[in-house]
Amino acid sequence: MKKKKLKIYWPNHSITSAEDGDDWFLKAQMANLNIPTGCLLGNCGACEIDVNGETIRPCIKNIEFRNNVHLKIEFTYDPYW
Ligand code: FES
Repeated sequence: MKKKKLKIYWPNHSITSAEDGDDWFLKAQMANLNIPTGCLLGNCGACEIDVNGETIRPCIKNIEFRNNVHLKIEFTYDPYW
């Protein structure tokens, strides 16, 4: 059975497609973006992005489809980081 793909809308106006469970960092690279990293363990928050308004940490979470809606990404910028 063919896996469903959804579009990801990135802050630089790139649009890529993804399957449920794909890696956020690879998809960001395909959009010519780098998600910042720090600990890669889910502790520091350096990698946080907003996905449809919900903040996630891509180093500990893969792409997850919810309600089959396309994914709009915004980068979070922590002024204290
Ligand atoms: S890199 Fe530290 S929380 Fe993701």
